[in-house]
Amino acid sequence: MNASSTTAERRQPLSVAVLISGRGSNFRALHQAADRIGIRIPVVISNRPDAEGLKYAQTAGVPACCIDRRKYSRSAFDQALQAKLDSLQPELLVLAGFMHILGDAFVADWSARMINIHPSLLPKYPGLNTHRNVLANGDSEHGASVHFVTAKLDGGPVISQCRIPVMPEDSPQSLARRLLPEEHRLLVRTVELFAGRRVELRDNLICLDERLLNDALQLDQDL
Ligand code: GRF
Repeated sequence: MNASSTTAERRQPLSVAVLISGRGSNFRALHQAADRIGIRIPVVISNRPDAEGLKYAQTAGVPACCIDRRKYSRSAFDQALQAKLDSLQPELLVLAGFMHILGDAFVADWSARMINIHPSLLPKYPGLNTHRNVLANGDSEHGASVHFVTAKLDGGPVISQCRIPVMPEDSPQSLARRLLPEEHRLLVRTVELFAGRRVELRDNLICLDERLLNDALQLDQDL
């Protein structure tokens, strides 16, 4: 994935595997934009059999599978996931609401080829309860980030962010509701950069069009 890729390579849709745990609305947004942004989704994988996103996959004709976390040890889960991916060879792995921490060896194998969408303006609020934390701290803005996945939870280099203002009447639920469509746009635009082979990680630094990125790209300004 770099600027030396040939034009023919650039035109090939990027193969993107998506990992989910629940509703799957980010997966749906990616699937609905797939043709436009130049990706194909060879599989969506859930770690939970009851993930709603699996139903969407079925109706949309996207190959889907569940690797039920409860039936595997931590390392066996990673191995089963790797085996599934080995059979399909996706170029990019997108964690979209995937509520499971992958092992260090798996993360190292996928280093620079795995991204996650997180509902906060990282480095603020890694982990859970981001909407509640924003309100508890009296922040005036909230947002979401797409970042490369590293061994540190929600701690990898941030590629892009979107922002929304926090209103006096906001609750965690209203923040989540208003943020979600922005998340969808952010994820689609960011994956589009990958599809254009425009972004890559070099020595833990993000390069866009062969230039080092000093700050995360901002939706509606840079994206
Ligand atoms: C999103 O808010 C995402 O940022 C977070 O979990 C939620 C998943 O939503 N990691 P969905 O499953 O994509 O609808």
